[in-house]
Amino acid sequence: MKLVIWIVLVATPIELMAQPNLVRSCEKCHGVEGINNNPIFPNLRGQNKGYLISTLNDFKTGNRQNQIMTSIAGTLSDDDIEMISKYYSELK
Ligand code: HEC
Repeated sequence: MKLVIWIVLVATPIELMAQPNLVRSCEKCHGVEGINNNPIFPNLRGQNKGYLISTLNDFKTGNRQNQIMTSIAGTLSDDDIEMISKYYSELK
C-alpha cells in the first residue's frame, strides 16, 4: 500500500488519471497489485515492461492464444498497453 501511494505521488498527472480504472479490471484475475495466489493467473507485479508490452500485443494480434486475454487485450489501445505495462513493471 505504501508503495502504491509512493508511485501515485511520483507519477505524472496524466498517468495518474488513466491507470486506476484500467488496472482495476485486471485485478479481478491477476490480483491486487498483480499478485494472485491462484496459479492459473500469472503474476504481473514487477514483470519486465518490454515483456508485458510484447505479450499484450501478442494476445491482441493472436500470436499468443488465450481466449480470455485475447478479448481483453483487444480492447486496449497502444497507450493503454504502455501505461499498464509501466504500472506493473514499476511495482516491486
Ligand atoms: C478474466 C480473467 C482475466 C482478466 C480480467 C485479465 N487476465 Fe490477464 N491472464 C488471464 C489468464 C488466465 C492468463 C494466462 C493465459 C495463458 O496461459 O496464456 C493471463 C495472462 C496474462 C499475461 C501474460 C503473463 C505472462 O507471464 O506471460 C498478461 C501480461 C496479462 N494477462 C495481462 C493482463 C492485463 C494487463 C489485464 C487487464 C487489462 C488482464 N490481464 C486481465 C486472465 C485474466
